[in-house]
Amino acid sequence: MKPCILVIDDERNTREGLSEALADDYQILLAEDAKHGLDLLKKHHVDMVLTDLRMPGMDGMEFTKMVSSWDDAPLIIMLTAYGSVQTAMEAMKVGAYDYLTKPVNLATLDEMLHRGMETLAQRRQTTADNDAMGDIIGESKTMQAIKDAIRQVADTRTTVLLTGESGTGKEVFAQAIHRLSSRAAHPFVAVHCAALNENLLESELFGHERGAFTGAVERAIGRFESADGGTLFLDEIGEITLSTQVKLLRVLETRSFERVGGKETIQTDVRIVAATNRDLKAMVAAGTFREDLFFRLNVVNIVLPPLRERKEDIPLLLNHYLKRASTDNGKPVREFSAEAIEVLTSYAWPGNIRELRNCVESMVVFARGGILTLGDIPQNIRQELSRQFDPDAPQEPAAPAEVLDIKANEKNLILQALAECHGNRSQAAQKLKISRRTLHRKLNEYGL
Ligand SMILES: Nc1ncnc2c1ncn2[C@@H]1O[C@H](COP(=O)(O)OP(=O)(O)OP(=O)(O)O)[C@@H](O)[C@H]1O
Ligand SMILES: [Mg+2]
Repeated sequence: MKPCILVIDDERNTREGLSEALADDYQILLAEDAKHGLDLLKKHHVDMVLTDLRMPGMDGMEFTKMVSSWDDAPLIIMLTAYGSVQTAMEAMKVGAYDYLTKPVNLATLDEMLHRGMETLAQRRQTTADNDAMGDIIGESKTMQAIKDAIRQVADTRTTVLLTGESGTGKEVFAQAIHRLSSRAAHPFVAVHCAALNENLLESELFGHERGAFTGAVERAIGRFESADGGTLFLDEIGEITLSTQVKLLRVLETRSFERVGGKETIQTDVRIVAATNRDLKAMVAAGTFREDLFFRLNVVNIVLPPLRERKEDIPLLLNHYLKRASTDNGKPVREFSAEAIEVLTSYAWPGNIRELRNCVESMVVFARGGILTLGDIPQNIRQELSRQFDPDAPQEPAAPAEVLDIKANEKNLILQALAECHGNRSQAAQKLKISRRTLHRKLNEYGL
């Protein structure tokens, strides 16, 4: 589709001249005054506006002020007589993209319009990116690499397999892939494969004809059909039975299927994103997951790391969910104490971001003051932490560097003791079997 340009000028010659010059490359709309121009903007998707500066009624300056504040506003180029360049510069301050003096030099105009389209494309890309990724928190290297991978793969039809532990954001990223793709205007349909038994799942995916089974009183459209043109998210794909795997494989290979109990073959144009927290490769080896289906799904595999492997994102997430929870609950909780952040960052978060979010929410709900401190950390997490750092408890072998880092371990033990004693230093010192003074010295030493 050609980009659309609206020309606003009270002189007929200018309008028609420009229209003729640009009609090959652009779709052109013409208006004789700003008011008519505004009407056209409401009815059409306009990319750029060429507007005269001095016109009867609303002038180009007023028009620019108004339009440039809109969301997804067109770029505005001022056309101005030789004497009023100063005013055109003013117009750029209120949002015009550029200006041209009349009589218009067509080569200059052409170049300006090209540049304008590039600017627009860039601006739209940034907006789409913010819309799709704005809610995804994480500045760690791994997170940035994952975001880059998502951007690259989004606007292709490639099947994507998202793997990661529970709560690592598989669904969030599945949606981001959809929103960043050219399918964004079509449906994103999620199927939670684990929630349904085999028969229900097949009827959910492929739909069924009337009378296909007891209770099928009406024809029903399946998710493959309702997602047409869009994205189908197959969540917990590791849970489907071998027989459903066969049927799914066929759709992926032929892009067509039949409704349950139906004969008609239905074509479908869906992009598949699948997710699992299981090790599909191991399942293939064990014979519970078909290898051919695995290869079909695993075209691009994006691995979402557990939170404990990207600890630098934990403070960002804590603060993000703190803000959200305090707004949602109308509680004026402003921040975490430095110790609380430190302790929560050292926690392993087996439930990943979901667990973190729930934890912050409950801390905010039960908060007694404006700052969340060690004493506000939920009991279950404190218990877990004490096991995490108890040298007597049987542990998974830690990485050598961690074992050898006596200081870090000591610091963690201190934080842990403080957390268990709600920040009471005398009690914490007793627990650690050191004097209050030693504790004090160590707190200073570790900058706590
Ligand atoms: N990078 C992130 N930034 C902010 N919030 C996130 C991020 N990733 C996930 N979340 C949030 O964490 C919660 C869990 O995410 P999601 O449901 O996508 O996880 P999942 O991997 O699908 O988990 P499960 O395997 O249990 O279904 C959601 O509330 C989601 O909004
Ligand atoms: Mg999920």
